[in-house]
Amino acid sequence: MAIVFITGSTDGLGRAAAQSLLDQGHRVVLHARSADRAAALGELASRSEGVVVGDLQSGAETKGIADQVNAIGRVDAVIHNAGVYTQRSRGSTPEGHAVTLAINTIAPYMLTALIERPARLVYLSSGLHRGGDGSLDDLDWTKRSWDSAKAYAESKLHVVALASALARRWPRVLSNAVDPGWARTKMGGAGAPVDIETGQKTQTWLAVSDDPAALVSGRYWHHLRQQEPANEATDPSFQDELVDKLAKLTGVKLPA
Ligand SMILES: NC(=O)c1ccc[n+]([C@@H]2O[C@H](COP(=O)([O-])OP(=O)(O)OC[C@H]3O[C@@H](n4cnc5c(N)ncnc54)[C@H](OP(=O)(O)O)[C@@H]3O)[C@@H](O)[C@H]2O)c1
Repeated sequence: MAIVFITGSTDGLGRAAAQSLLDQGHRVVLHARSADRAAALGELASRSEGVVVGDLQSGAETKGIADQVNAIGRVDAVIHNAGVYTQRSRGSTPEGHAVTLAINTIAPYMLTALIERPARLVYLSSGLHRGGDGSLDDLDWTKRSWDSAKAYAESKLHVVALASALARRWPRVLSNAVDPGWARTKMGGAGAPVDIETGQKTQTWLAVSDDPAALVSGRYWHHLRQQEPANEATDPSFQDELVDKLAKLTGVKLPA
């Protein structure tokens, strides 16, 4: 059985993914932003291989999360699930970045670079990534006035591009992105059409299944089916420029 690390596993789709994997007999490493939030994991924590703690807004804490995961041992898969939706303002993280960019784009990038290479990577995107074109001139929102919906869309385009970039750079790793649909979570709200069980299914399947359909890389998924993502996401020059810019912003290079 596989061991899977899931970011943002205190709530929503991350918590549901952890529950589902544990119920299937897999092992999971959980993640909470703080010790207080780790307490919310309840009995899931005692069934896990460990709970790593750190706020993904902070580059220093994100490095700490990678260290804690590596100390537990190599995991087979990472589900980059944690995310935030529309933030009222750009904000400024301890490293001075826009909060949306830090949590939704920089953190998955840094964790990918710093966690011992797993066999599979899964990145939680959104159908809204299709409105995220044209971000590379102002990745960190230092030139434009704040637009929370655009910032979210851009961050979700970034992770599809990142999944695809990793598929090219690390051919032995299966790296995919998932749109879970508009799901009933804290983020999605009570009126969302997709139940949480359906919302978590594709990412857990990609993380552990031996079904030949799941053993692919560089694809974009929605409810167990492949879809075509936005053009920029599959454009190698967009991917490379994004990765270069993230390396410069963070001082963390993606290993070859
Ligand atoms: N729900 C939807 O309709 C929908 C649609 C498309 C894509 N998605 C994507 O699916 C993923 C999961 O969404 P969800 O609906 O499950 O969201 P959610 O219910 O709001 O849960 C988000 C998770 O991320 C954690 N998190 C947020 N900011 C963090 C930070 N700074 N440091 C550490 N952890 C942090 C949260 O921790 P706390 O519990 O402490 O807040 C929580 O565990 C996200 O990437 C989202 O963009 C969701």
